[in-house]
Amino acid sequence: MTLLSNLAVRDVETLVHPYTNLAALRETGPLVLERGKGVFVYDSNGKAYIEGMAGLWCTALGYGNEELVEAAAQQMRKLSFAHLFSAKSHDPAIELAEKLKEIAPVPTSKVFFCNSGSEANDSQIKLVWYMNNALGRPRKKKIISRLKAYHGVTIASASLTGLPANHRDFDLPMAGILHAGCPHHYRFAHAGESEEDFASRLAAELDEMIAQEGPDTVAAFIAEPVMGAGGVLVPPKTYFEKVTRVCRRHDVYMIADEVICGFGRLGTAFGSQSLGFTPDAISVAKALTSGYLPMAAVTVPEPMYQTLLDESRKIGTFGHGFTYSGHPVAAAVALKALEIYARDRIVDQAAQKTPHFQARLQALGQHALVGEARGLGLIGAVELVADKATKRSFDPKAGVAPRAVRFAEDEGLMVRFLVGDAVSICPPLVITREEIDELFDRRSRALDRTLDWARREGLMS
Ligand SMILES: Cc1ncc(COP(=O)(O)O)c(C=O)c1O
Repeated sequence: MTLLSNLAVRDVETLVHPYTNLAALRETGPLVLERGKGVFVYDSNGKAYIEGMAGLWCTALGYGNEELVEAAAQQMRKLSFAHLFSAKSHDPAIELAEKLKEIAPVPTSKVFFCNSGSEANDSQIKLVWYMNNALGRPRKKKIISRLKAYHGVTIASASLTGLPANHRDFDLPMAGILHAGCPHHYRFAHAGESEEDFASRLAAELDEMIAQEGPDTVAAFIAEPVMGAGGVLVPPKTYFEKVTRVCRRHDVYMIADEVICGFGRLGTAFGSQSLGFTPDAISVAKALTSGYLPMAAVTVPEPMYQTLLDESRKIGTFGHGFTYSGHPVAAAVALKALEIYARDRIVDQAAQKTPHFQARLQALGQHALVGEARGLGLIGAVELVADKATKRSFDPKAGVAPRAVRFAEDEGLMVRFLVGDAVSICPPLVITREEIDELFDRRSRALDRTLDWARREGLMS
């Protein structure tokens, strides 16, 4: 083991880190963060980093926002905990549900609260199953997700996730979850296939999958507007219009996972609006509280709510809910975050910053190491390749993307590597134009260093 600091040693001896090579961690130790302000975070040695990933795609309003801190403190003093079980309620949850109903991009009758994106998507599945039982169609239970999707890590949501590392040796996916094709043109379109033709093919494949399974067995289709952890994949033009049509034709409930795209990330309030489709329900989390506290929500349309009423009459209760569903402190913080989004026109501002952000991102596409630079709104990724002309990927064992992230950290920039050697960028929405420039300057220098390293290692010519 290299010489690790005291904190790092204590970390390695005590923590199981999510999404970490635990064996490698024993050698390198963790990067320990201590504080944050605006779009910057600072490590335990005082080094500053631009948080180019908004934490985990969540800290839309940046760090150290006193209004959010104060909203939490006030609510903690007033009523630090209250639940919604057994007909109990409280102000912050009621007000937040009203607010979400008002701004949701889909017809919403009620809102169900939970604590994470995974719980939200698990709840979506349970709600759909429950509804279909109430409607007397007990066979209509299969859920279709997509390869490379990310919907969480609980048993059901990890099954929806379409990434190998979330399934391998966890005995997943569970039965009844299917994965349709991934809408990534750069990797999966046929030679010469236009975006529209690719979208038509994917929709036709989805149609065929539903027909083969039997439409009376397929309950729902779930999709992120822009896929995040799968590599920041922007769907081809007309994709959602076409898959929505397929879902409608087979009476398949459509769920948009807005956990990353919700609250302005794509330059519109919700991602489904940018991509031009209206699902039946959405899952939200992350920027709902700007990541200050865990909170998530699921919207419930009126026809589904009616079935919940029927089941309650029959069974005596709606048997689902978490201790912290609608936690008053998290709800108070979410309300304040939504107030700030509206008051400071955060979504419009994100839209205004988008052309500059995307221009700087696209410019990285010229780099010798970058096969594709892609994104929408204030989110993007570069996919690193060994050969631009043939799109040949690096051997994953070479660890090029992790190395690129380390060089970025050396340059004072937090980014994240995803599957397929994609390195993502998703800064707080409050980032300024100057900070966007600084972010991409650092990104560029880190890419140059990665290229030098890859050449030295003989990974590319
Ligand atoms: C689109 C999407 N859905 C769901 C999740 C799962 O959320 P959580 O990690 O809060 O369970 C994530 C997390 O990154 C996500 O990006």
